[in-house]
Amino acid sequence: MASLLLSLLLAGSSAEAASYNGLAITPQMGWDNWNAFACDVDAELLASSARSIVDLGLRDLGYEYVILDDCWSIGRNTSGNGSIIADLTKFPNGMAAVSEDVHSLGLKFGMYSDAGQYTCGQYEGSLGHEEVDAQTFANWGVDYLKYDNCYNNGNAGTQYLSRNRYNTMSQALNATGRPVLYSLCNWGEDYPWNWGTTIANSWRISGDVYDSFDRPDPRCPCDGPDAWDCGLPGFHCSTLNIINKAAFIPSKAQSGGWNDLDMLTVGLGGQTDAEYVTLFSMWCAVKSPLIMGNDFSKISNSTLSILTNAAAIAVNQDPLYSSAARRWYYDTSDVDAYGRGSIQMWSGALNSTTDTEWDDMVVVLINGNNSPSTLNATLADIFVDYGTGGTAAEIGISWEVRDLWAYRLTDEESQALIDAANATTASGSGASVEAWSNNSTMALYNATATSYADGLEAKDELLLGKVVSTVAPSGTLTASIDTHGAAMFRLRAVPTTTPAARKRTDL
Ligand SMILES: *[C@@H]1O[C@H](CO)[C@@H](O)[C@H](O)[C@H]1NC(C)=O
Ligand SMILES: *[C@@H]1O[C@H](CO)[C@@H](O)[C@H](O)[C@H]1NC(C)=O
Ligand SMILES: *[C@@H]1O[C@H](CO)[C@@H](O)[C@H](O)[C@H]1NC(C)=O
Ligand SMILES: *[C@@H]1O[C@H](CO)[C@@H](O)[C@H](O)[C@H]1NC(C)=O
Ligand SMILES: *[C@@H]1O[C@H](CO)[C@@H](O)[C@H](O)[C@H]1NC(C)=O
Ligand SMILES: *[C@@H]1O[C@H](CO)[C@@H](O)[C@H](O)[C@H]1NC(C)=O
Ligand SMILES: *[C@@H]1O[C@H](CO)[C@@H](O)[C@H](O)[C@H]1NC(C)=O
Ligand SMILES: *[C@@H]1O[C@H](CO)[C@@H](O)[C@H](O)[C@H]1NC(C)=O
Ligand SMILES: *[C@@H]1O[C@H](CO)[C@@H](O)[C@H](O)[C@H]1NC(C)=O
Ligand SMILES: *[C@@H]1O[C@H](CO)[C@@H](O)[C@H](O)[C@H]1NC(C)=O
Repeated sequence: MASLLLSLLLAGSSAEAASYNGLAITPQMGWDNWNAFACDVDAELLASSARSIVDLGLRDLGYEYVILDDCWSIGRNTSGNGSIIADLTKFPNGMAAVSEDVHSLGLKFGMYSDAGQYTCGQYEGSLGHEEVDAQTFANWGVDYLKYDNCYNNGNAGTQYLSRNRYNTMSQALNATGRPVLYSLCNWGEDYPWNWGTTIANSWRISGDVYDSFDRPDPRCPCDGPDAWDCGLPGFHCSTLNIINKAAFIPSKAQSGGWNDLDMLTVGLGGQTDAEYVTLFSMWCAVKSPLIMGNDFSKISNSTLSILTNAAAIAVNQDPLYSSAARRWYYDTSDVDAYGRGSIQMWSGALNSTTDTEWDDMVVVLINGNNSPSTLNATLADIFVDYGTGGTAAEIGISWEVRDLWAYRLTDEESQALIDAANATTASGSGASVEAWSNNSTMALYNATATSYADGLEAKDELLLGKVVSTVAPSGTLTASIDTHGAAMFRLRAVPTTTPAARKRTDL
C-alpha cells in the first residue's frame, strides 16, 4: 500500500508542467508560411490563411498560432529609437493590424527574427537589438517568436555561446511582460536540448526539413541512423533524416520545452500520402510542435484528412508529456531509388485515462522498405523500458490494439469540408464547418469545446482510435503497411487483476 501511494505521488510529480514561462505545456500547434511561400508574404496571405484555419476546423483542433516567417521588414529607424520597421508595401496597415486580424479570429500571432546580424533572407536581424525588438513585438501583440540562427557572426560553437546569445532574447521577451512562446531555430547546433528548457519553449534539432521521404543531400551532411552529432546541420534534410536524429534525444522533450522536428511538409506535394502519414505520426509521437506549412488555397482532401487526425494529435497533446523512443531500427535490402531500405519501431507511454495502474502505449511502426511489408513488434520490445529481458509485468497481460488512423476522414468527407469552407469563406466564422460537422457521420474533433485531456478522460473514440485486435500475453503486434508508410496504434490494457504493474515512474 505504501509503495502504491508512493508510486502515485511519483506519477503525479513527474507529469507536472515545468514550462519556464508557463507556455507550451503541450507542444504548440499552428501554421507558418515559409514552406509554401518563403519570402512571398503579405497581409492578405496571413488573413486568408487564418480564415481557412478557422473554416476548415483546424483552429478547433488546436492549431492556434499563425506565424509570419522571414522577409517582412525594411530595416531600422536610425533617426528614432532604432526599432525595426515593417514593410508597408506588404503590410499596408502595419503589423499591429495584422496581429489584430489574427486575434479577431480566435487565433494567436507569431513572428520571425534572427539571433544574428541579418535574417536568413538577409533582412535586419535582432542580434544586439534584442530589447527594442522584443518591445516592438510586444507592442504589436505578438504571441510567438521563431528565432533563427543565420549570420550570427561566429557567436556559436559552444553550448555557452549559443545559450547566451539565445538567452538575451529570452530575457528581453520576458521583460516586456507579454507571454511570448519562444521557439529556437538554431538547427540543433550546440545541443540546444541541453540548455533550451530553461530559456525557451522548443528548439529545432536539425537543419531545415525538405519535402522528401529519404532523399540524401550533401547539403544535409549528417545522415543515416546514427548521425545525431552534427557539426554542420545544413538544410534539405529528409523526413527519415530528421526522424533518425530524434531517436537520440527523446528524453530531452518535456512539458514547456520540446524537440522541434521542423514544420510539417504535409501537403507540399513531394511525398506520397503514406509518407506524409509516417511524418505526421512521428511528429505526433515524439511531441514535436505541429506547425503546418501548406498552401490552404490548394489544400487537397488527403492533406486535410492527415492534419485533422485527432487520434494522432491526442498523442502529441497527451497529458503525460512523454516522447516515444525508438526501440529498434534495421537496414533492409528492399531499397528504393536512393538505395535506402529500413524498418523501425517506436513506442512511448501515454496517460491511461482508465482507473488501472497500466499506462497506455503508443506504437509506431515505420516501413522504410520499397514495397508494402508486414512488420511485427513484440510486447517485450514495446515495453522494454518497464523491464528488460522480458521481465516487464506489462508482457504478462493482454492489450487492446487501437488503430489511430482508423477514423481518418474519407476523401469524400474531407473534400466536402474543403468545399463547404470555401463556399462560405466570406461569411461568418466557422459556420460552414459546424454545419458540415453536424451533417457528417464522422465529426471533426473540437478541442476548443473539449480539451484533448478531457476528451481522453471521457473516452472519446475519435481520440482513442478504433479497436482492431488484441495482443495476448507475450504476444506480437503485427501490421501490414504501405511502402514508406507507418502504422500507429494505442495499446490499452485489457482489464485484469493480476499481476500488479509497476508504474513507468517506478523505473
Ligand atoms: C522614426 O523615428 C522618428 C523619431 O521617433 C519618427 O518620427 C518616425 O516616424 C519614425 N519612422 C518610422 C518609419 O517609423
Ligand atoms: C519607437 O518609436 C516609435 C515612434 O517613432 C514608437 O511608436 C515605438 O513604440 C517605439 N518603439 C519602442 C520599442 O520603444
Ligand atoms: C518571466 O520569467 C519569470 C521567471 O521565470 C516567469 O515566472 C514569468 O512568467 C515570465 N513572464 C513572462 C511574461 O514570460
Ligand atoms: C476555393 O474557391 C476558389 C474560387 O473558386 C478557388 O480558386 C480555390 O482554389 C478554392 N480553394 C480550394 C481549397 O478548393
Ligand atoms: C491521467 O488520467 C487520469 C485518469 O483519467 C487522470 O486522473 C490524471 O489526472 C491524468 N494524468 C495527468 C497527468 O493528466
Ligand atoms: C512479420 O511476421 C509475418 C508473419 O509471421 C512475416 O511474414 C513477416 O515477414 C514478419 N516481418 C518481418 C519484417 O520480419
Ligand atoms: C480528392 O482529391 C483528389 C485530388 O487531390 C481528387 O482527385 C479526388 O477526386 C478527391 N476526392 C473526392 C472524393 O472528391
Ligand atoms: C467548437 O467549439 C466551440 C466552443 O464550443 C465553438 O465555438 C466552435 O464553433 C466549435 N467549432 C466547430 C468547428 O464546430
Ligand atoms: C450543430 O448542432 C448543434 C448541436 O446539435 C446545434 O446547436 C447547432 O446549431 C448546429 N449547427 C448548425 C450550423 O447546424
Ligand atoms: C447536409 O446534408 C444535406 C442532406 O444530405 C445536404 O443537402 C447538405 O448540403 C449538407 N450540408 C453540408 C454543409 O454538408
